[in-house]
Amino acid sequence: MPRLPFIPINRPILGREEREAVLEVMESGRLTDASFEGGRYVREFERKLKSLLGAKHAIAVNSGTAALHSVLLAIGLKAGDEVVIPSFTFVATANVVLACGAKPVFVDTGRDYNMDPARFREAITSKTKGVIPVHLYGYPADMDEIREIASSRSVRVVEDAAESLGATYKGVQTGRLSDAGCFSMYATKVVTSGEGGAISTDDDELAERLRLVRNHGMVHGYDSRHLGFNYRLPELGAAIASAQMDRLAGFLKKRSRNVRLLQERIGDVEGAEFTQDRDDRTHAYYLFTLTVRKNRDRLLKALNDSGIGAAVYFKLPVHKTPLYSKLGYGGKWLKRTEEASRHVISLPVHPGLGPEEMRRVGDGFRAACASLL
Ligand SMILES: Cc1ncc(COP(=O)(O)O)c(C=O)c1O
Repeated sequence: MPRLPFIPINRPILGREEREAVLEVMESGRLTDASFEGGRYVREFERKLKSLLGAKHAIAVNSGTAALHSVLLAIGLKAGDEVVIPSFTFVATANVVLACGAKPVFVDTGRDYNMDPARFREAITSKTKGVIPVHLYGYPADMDEIREIASSRSVRVVEDAAESLGATYKGVQTGRLSDAGCFSMYATKVVTSGEGGAISTDDDELAERLRLVRNHGMVHGYDSRHLGFNYRLPELGAAIASAQMDRLAGFLKKRSRNVRLLQERIGDVEGAEFTQDRDDRTHAYYLFTLTVRKNRDRLLKALNDSGIGAAVYFKLPVHKTPLYSKLGYGGKWLKRTEEASRHVISLPVHPGLGPEEMRRVGDGFRAACASLL
């Protein structure tokens, strides 16, 4: 029997709209625009993001990392300051804090893999300048609790919404629940520009500073007035992202349909649990992730061997990576984070998949669980 095609965990969905947008940019000959405001497609993308979020400002940059770094620079983070972050995240959340000379303070997660607000409260010191909750896998963190604790101690809140474009918390889009929200448009993300990122904020002054940071602090060219970098999003990427924004609602619908089909197919499996399920928030399902009781790595291998691109995010929490271990963060002290890193597994639900593929993923998962859980 011929082997069935491999089902990847995620892939960009690019079609006629993106192709036409890219051709337009190529024909215009304007591949980038180093002005303070940015080029035509950058501004078009920013308008669409602003309108989706209902935010006052959206600033496109060239990665999610650049988005986070820009915000920390714009709020004046400096050596000696501390920023509270989860360790169960992509390393960028921590690296941007280090890049400002400040100290990341890692805290443990709750059962939904997001920052536990109680642990955040305990981690605050006189040096705490900011907190970065991450909406992991596209599922909003406990923002009411986090915001309340932060405001009582004058701590700035910055959302790492890299994975959560389109998710909502109590009816409000992620990225709008703090001083600034940071998105990624990396190739696998819900909306992509290949590499890219964006920031949303309602704060006029902060938005102005973010535009400076993205462009070496320049307003009229060669007149740097603030520390900045080349964090500009190229027009080709912006044109793709802008076309993708028109398709976001459809992408999100397909992701949640795929999750529903998968859950129906899998049913109840003793020893496998889905924990991102509170009904006061909606999930963007960038990743659909379960906790399995045992044999996670064997389960992963069995699925991959049968052509199902299950994956693990993250096998190593940030504090246990070689870099952060060298900085003195290693060791076993974030119990839930370390448990999650040993037990989570994500299954493919991206919008390029249809009911037939979801049946394969569901049946494959059930079969692997039956022999390994
Ligand atoms: C949670 C999280 N934070 C930050 C980033 C950084 O985004 P980028 O890869 O676009 O720099 C990513 C994505 O890769 C992410 O998943």
